[in-house]
Amino acid sequence: MRLIFIGPPGSGKGTQAKRLAARYGDPHIATGDMLREAVADDTALGREAAPIMASGALVPDDLMIGIIKDRLAKPDAQRGFILDGFPRTVVQAEKLDTIVDSGPHGPGNGSDPLRVLQLLVPDDVLVKRTVLRRSCPECGAIYHLESAPPQKDMVCDRDGAALIHRPDDNEESVRKRLEAFHRQTLPVATYYKAKGIVREVDGVGPLDEVFERIEKSLA
Ligand code: AP5
Repeated sequence: MRLIFIGPPGSGKGTQAKRLAARYGDPHIATGDMLREAVADDTALGREAAPIMASGALVPDDLMIGIIKDRLAKPDAQRGFILDGFPRTVVQAEKLDTIVDSGPHGPGNGSDPLRVLQLLVPDDVLVKRTVLRRSCPECGAIYHLESAPPQKDMVCDRDGAALIHRPDDNEESVRKRLEAFHRQTLPVATYYKAKGIVREVDGVGPLDEVFERIEKSLA
């Protein structure tokens, strides 16, 4: 499949995109994870992105477009992809159209049509979800201290690594990310709605139920 997840911070994009990727075998491409990896590796990109991410603002479009263009050119993304966190601005969406139309993903090569899944979650739920999130720096598994806790306190169930609390998962940064979502990313949903390719899914409820809704909406 060729799918784009759109949703505010904490709406469950990463959680549900990982499940879809495991079920259908398409690569889960998460720009936030790619940036966090660059920060951990102390690359030039990571050094530029770290303070922007911590503040809750968006990294400049030209950097993000370069990253995604390189990633979509890799062999594992030739048959499909699940994008999580990109595009986040209309400029990014327009550029993605060019990449998708001109590359091996273009029309006429048998690829699935591009689809967009918009997760709907009210703002008041999102702050609690993000502030209580913990994640595994090794395998990327996502936990929540209340709704999806690890079996052993602060230890990943899958690989035993110590879980981390993202530096941008504090209330101030989450509120800024929400503001950026409303101002810069909701217009992306409008852009795709005009093309008639958006499915809206209620993202509130148990993880399995949300996943079922997603699968139904894609059927
Ligand atoms: P990114 O990593 O993409 O962060 P985000 O969009 O703010 O999204 P999150 O990762 O916070 O949330 P999510 O929707 O994946 O939720 P999750 O599944 O983890 O981006 C981080 C930063 O990088 C940005 O702020 C920006 O600076 C930069 N960046 C990235 N891409 C960029 C781009 N294209 N352009 C410019 N800048 C870019 O779930 C959250 C929590 O809720 C978890 O604890 C989970 O267990 C829990 N949960 C999930 N579903 C449920 C449920 N149904 N019920 C209860 N709990 C649930």
